[in-house]
Amino acid sequence: MAISQWVKESVGYEIYPRSFYDGNGDGMGDIQGIIKKLDYLSDLGINLIWIGPFYPSPLDDNGYDVSDFMNVDPQLGTLADIKQLIQKAHQLGIRVMFDFVMNQTSDEHPWFIESCQNKNSEKRDYYIWQKGKSQNRPPTNWGSFFGGSAWKYDKQSDEYYMKIFSDKMPDLNWSNPKVRFEMGKVAKFWLDLGVDGFRMDAIAHLARDMKFVDSKKKKIDGVVGDWSKFSNRKELYTYLKQLHQEVFSQYNCLTIGEVGGGAKIKDALKYIPSIDMVFNFDACWCLTADNKVDVMRLKNTINYWITNSLKHGIYLPQYWLNHDHPRVMSQYGSQKYFKESGKALALLLLSLYGLPFIYNGEEIGMQNALYDKLSDFKDVSSQNYIKLNAHRLSEQEMLNHLRNNSRDHGHLPMQWTSEKYAGFSVKEPYLKVNLDYQKVNVAQQLQDKDSILNFYRQMIQLRLNSKWSEVLQSGDFELIESQHPQIFGFRRKLNNRSLLVLVNLSEQDTTYSVAEGEIIISNIDSHKPHSLGAYEGIIMREQE
Ligand code: GLC
Repeated sequence: MAISQWVKESVGYEIYPRSFYDGNGDGMGDIQGIIKKLDYLSDLGINLIWIGPFYPSPLDDNGYDVSDFMNVDPQLGTLADIKQLIQKAHQLGIRVMFDFVMNQTSDEHPWFIESCQNKNSEKRDYYIWQKGKSQNRPPTNWGSFFGGSAWKYDKQSDEYYMKIFSDKMPDLNWSNPKVRFEMGKVAKFWLDLGVDGFRMDAIAHLARDMKFVDSKKKKIDGVVGDWSKFSNRKELYTYLKQLHQEVFSQYNCLTIGEVGGGAKIKDALKYIPSIDMVFNFDACWCLTADNKVDVMRLKNTINYWITNSLKHGIYLPQYWLNHDHPRVMSQYGSQKYFKESGKALALLLLSLYGLPFIYNGEEIGMQNALYDKLSDFKDVSSQNYIKLNAHRLSEQEMLNHLRNNSRDHGHLPMQWTSEKYAGFSVKEPYLKVNLDYQKVNVAQQLQDKDSILNFYRQMIQLRLNSKWSEVLQSGDFELIESQHPQIFGFRRKLNNRSLLVLVNLSEQDTTYSVAEGEIIISNIDSHKPHSLGAYEGIIMREQE
């Protein structure tokens, strides 16, 4: 399926709605908050937003536990607000994607409530119910992504329901045609309202091994983390094909499925007849043992995905982080070279082949939370980690782990100003703001011509509105200095025009041998031929 031209001409931006901007002063971000900041986004230059789940939810997993797929959480707004958002975004030339949560519902969804209450109801089969092996033993030894078993016991019916995320997120049974029909209706509902596409959540897990046999892999803490039992299984391609035929093909919409870890290009190609692109996680967590960016692994990973995508004529999304990951500045960036590294990451991301997605706050260099109390970490996976480890690790050890790994970092309230609560809200936010907000915030960076934020703007302009746009959007990709341990370098070439991109992803100066060209953009003032300072990045026009 050829990708639409408008997709190539886009730069995306993910908004985590509860942490973006609080429009009504209750301490939590909301839809009116996003509407108020659309002008900021338009000024940044992006033209596509992906908004995380805003549906009614008991918030066990940040809104990915949905209790009504076709509505808006009253704390975040109303359907009228959503319509207004789409309308204003479109007026500004910004397309809108929503998160389509497909793998599960909340246990407070009416389908699940009915499924529990009545074994004979047709809703029973909307979920995956199984008898335990014996007293107190779940149907299989499979573990869940958030820790513990993939099954939860229900006393009333003396059966277990499957839940590969949290206990409060029962998995939908996609092998049931009625479930597929209902979920198709959900997609139609939002498309009819004017949304331009979906980020499709956790689609790699829509099919499971329905034979329910134990995994033979090694048990840790009583369960086996054998994701193959519910990842990338063949039946799911049929489900997606049906969704494509019955829904997506009727609209000019963009569909990007989250396929998670472990997927390779051959898997991507199985998804792509039915959806446009897949998100994989491979470029995240490319870290060395001492928590620095592993340049070789990062560039080889990105090279693998790009060269294979070009070979097969497909497009792919590019991103440094999303709401499930720590902040990229705390992983691939540098405290010491804060500005340089923030800009270097912008330069790289926006010159790759594929659709770049900026994650809210990345454009100002937001960093991991420096929380000093375990209770400040609110995410369900952080809390599960604390529960599972409290008996064997000290508080300090758990803090160290969460400071580097927690999903809370991605949920930090956006740092708009140096005022109280980072200008995110007038009330104490539901999640503590990071301590660095007086130094790192939008207002300050808007004033500073030389800021990371202004560099993102320049890079977006180069990508979308310059004579080099086509080369950056569609040109070939070839690694250069491929064995260099510090430099991520590549050539982008279209017809006879080519650009060289060279970025030093380290704090040490270094040199390179490729021939110099005319500098198109750089993140430092004075470039010395054949050398790159700490986190220096340049794009040069190659001599024809
Ligand atoms: C996806 C989401 C993640 C969520 C999970 C369950 O991986 O990105 O935030 O917890 O699916 O919906």
